[in-house]
Amino acid sequence: MTPMIFDHPLIQHKISLLRNKNTGSKEFRELVGEVSMLMCYEATRDLPLKEVEIETPVALAKTKVIAGRKLAFVPILRAGIGMLDGVLSMVPAAKVGHIGLYRDESNGSTTHEYYCKLPSDINEREVFVLDPMLATGGSSCDAIAQIKKRGAKHIKFIGLVAAPQGLKALHEAHPDVDIYVGALDEKLNENGYIVPGLGDAGDRIFGTK
Ligand code: PRP
Ligand code: URA
Repeated sequence: MTPMIFDHPLIQHKISLLRNKNTGSKEFRELVGEVSMLMCYEATRDLPLKEVEIETPVALAKTKVIAGRKLAFVPILRAGIGMLDGVLSMVPAAKVGHIGLYRDESNGSTTHEYYCKLPSDINEREVFVLDPMLATGGSSCDAIAQIKKRGAKHIKFIGLVAAPQGLKALHEAHPDVDIYVGALDEKLNENGYIVPGLGDAGDRIFGTK
């Protein structure tokens, strides 16, 4: 599937607030949660339904419920954690895995996994990998490769802001993964930051700078 840029007005408005350097950590965290909730709503639009019969207080009704694979959310540590509450508010019964990677500062592109704990039935689930930033794509490409290695077969990626390079890298490395982002920015700068972007998502969510 061609990567999807969600252009819902609420998503665009909230991402603009996230971009503002004067938005403090508390508001930033809340906004990341709200945008993630809206993106999850859009990204689950194609979940299959099945018809069931239930008894309302008035009559028997033929109605629909979600069918097929159950969901799992896997935030990429650390900034992906900021998206978790928002997506869980949409799908509270989903299971949650975690994957942690850090980038090798000496060469900027190699990533090292330092943590991975996934639901034991990950191979049977529809997996949504969460990371607010898709910059070079190194973190998400490697995280998804590790998640696949542990058995996941059906994966979608939800990000808030992407650079063209990251979107291309992720799509080329994992053409089977549906990619949803809230904004496609202009470029990366020499430090690998998205321009105009929103800065370091982890630092802004957790107030570490
Ligand atoms: C950020 C972000 C992504 C990664 C994106 O994490 O949350 O995981 O950078 O960059 P890439 O596409 O070039 O790999 P970072 O490595 O800064 O760690 P953090 O979440 O702990 O802040
Ligand atoms: N990671 C971030 O948090 N922000 C960027 O712009 C790039 C990578």
